[in-house]
Amino acid sequence: MSVRIRHHVNPLRAKLQRIAPGPLQLPPGAPLPLDIELGCADALFLFELARRDPDTSYIGLEIRQALVADVNERAAAAGLPHLRAVFAHINIDLAALLAGHKVRRFFINFPDPWFKRAQKKRRLVTPELAAQLASLLAPEGELFFQSDVWGLALDAMAVLEQTPGLRNVAGEWSFVRQNPYPARSLREVRVLERGLPVWRMLYKPTHGLAATAPRTAEPAGPSPQPGTAAPF
Ligand SMILES: C[S@@+](CC[C@H](N)C(=O)[O-])C[C@H]1O[C@@H](n2cnc3c(N)ncnc32)[C@H](O)[C@@H]1O
Repeated sequence: MSVRIRHHVNPLRAKLQRIAPGPLQLPPGAPLPLDIELGCADALFLFELARRDPDTSYIGLEIRQALVADVNERAAAAGLPHLRAVFAHINIDLAALLAGHKVRRFFINFPDPWFKRAQKKRRLVTPELAAQLASLLAPEGELFFQSDVWGLALDAMAVLEQTPGLRNVAGEWSFVRQNPYPARSLREVRVLERGLPVWRMLYKPTHGLAATAPRTAEPAGPSPQPGTAAPF
């Protein structure tokens, strides 16, 4: 079904501070582990994962309500009961939403349309959010971030590097070369089609990590050069 969806919403709007979705309820018999994309938009990334793997619950959190409804309709139509989107303001609702859950993987794919310094307070990856993500990760969990905007990636890295309980798989202040998952988000597809660079990071919790090597991600080579942002 085609729905009219706003390009962006301002997460600082008063109305969006009160979404309060309540605790995440998984249906009886829902598979575990739990993987979550923060800011899933159309959830292309999660659809690809869910089609390959019926044994994980895939949840997308999204602040644009019309997108959430659309994702849920499409997931039902596609016979993917283990994929669901939830209307939530991640920076406000995450702790209550995920209380009592452990998450295997958090994906933050191209999180912010807010490139300008003046809009920095709208950004998703804050020290508070990063601390919550670290505490919610399962011992063998993963936190993946990618962006085509150099400044955003660097700001997110500055936060994540300083978050207690997280360890950069590629080494401190380093990027991974590849998206290690068999899925691409819509923004990722568009950026790659244009041949633009993507800055990616993979973190694991220090508490579960008996110095294991990354499964699929490889450390990136020399420090990347600033890239150009592609319009969404
Ligand atoms: C640039 S889009 C990227 C969407 C998708 N991850 C991709 O890579 O194609 C960022 C998404 O995050 C959502 N978003 C931004 N801030 C959010 C917040 N605080 N809570 C929930 N969703 C948010 C936006 O509505 C938007 O859909």
